[in-house]
Amino acid sequence: MKKGKKLYEGKAKIIYASPEKNFVIQHFKDDATAFNNQKKSIIEGKGILNNRISEHILNSLNQIGIKNHLVKRLNMREQLVKQLEIIPIEFIVRNIATGSLTKRLGIEDGTVLDEPLIEYCLKDDSLGDPIVSPEHILVFKWMSKSEIKIVKKNILRINDFLQGMFRGINIKLVDFKVEFGRTISGAKDDIILADEISPDTCRLWDSLTDKKLDKDRFRKDLGNIIEGYQEVARRLDILHEQSNIRPIKFSKPTAVKIKKNK
Ligand code: TMP
Repeated sequence: MKKGKKLYEGKAKIIYASPEKNFVIQHFKDDATAFNNQKKSIIEGKGILNNRISEHILNSLNQIGIKNHLVKRLNMREQLVKQLEIIPIEFIVRNIATGSLTKRLGIEDGTVLDEPLIEYCLKDDSLGDPIVSPEHILVFKWMSKSEIKIVKKNILRINDFLQGMFRGINIKLVDFKVEFGRTISGAKDDIILADEISPDTCRLWDSLTDKKLDKDRFRKDLGNIIEGYQEVARRLDILHEQSNIRPIKFSKPTAVKIKKNK
């Protein structure tokens, strides 16, 4: 499919026009940023992995009736998606306390929450994506009451489904961030899941060891970033030989020389 002009460039993705009306092309870059762009790097192959992982997750969510923008994956780095008016709120769901929650409220890292905690952040880099309340969202008309209700119901269902899916492959879904958008030609309250769900936007810990398999490997300089993402893809059974993604490196067994006794 021929890409049109660049419509928007974010930190990890680019949106291009597509030949089809009301659809755009979402391109996954290898760029990684953290702490509101203060830390930057290129992680070779990250875009390819996020494209595949997000495709898998959004298709699975579609199967349980969570409407989303994904139409189909076009190639290694691109997806055809519905054009949406993105709601300027980041929706965060947390099952285990870590990251900004622990810093902001002094909660002990790793505390398992009795029930999922929803947080809303205003999508504005210049303000550092500040946390806002549903009251802010209503007063400043970022969303209507009924839209908040729809999104809340959806993100709790997404959390339930993803927690189960990841539990099955020995991964704890610690927290995640999602975005929603309004369909361009849609009816009132036609609001669907947008963006991506990948190790860039989730915290994923190995169930047995609590090893981090997500972007915290980059944020916290833990190394082996791509290996973490590959591990998630491998466990989801979507890392196949024919892809351009370099396989996970296992250390080679030492060659054993057999001396022939003459
Ligand atoms: P936080 O603990 O830094 O607030 O992050 C909560 C979750 O949201 C975590 O899974 C990472 C994700 N996230 C994003 O996807 N984008 C962002 O810009 C931020 C700040 C967090």
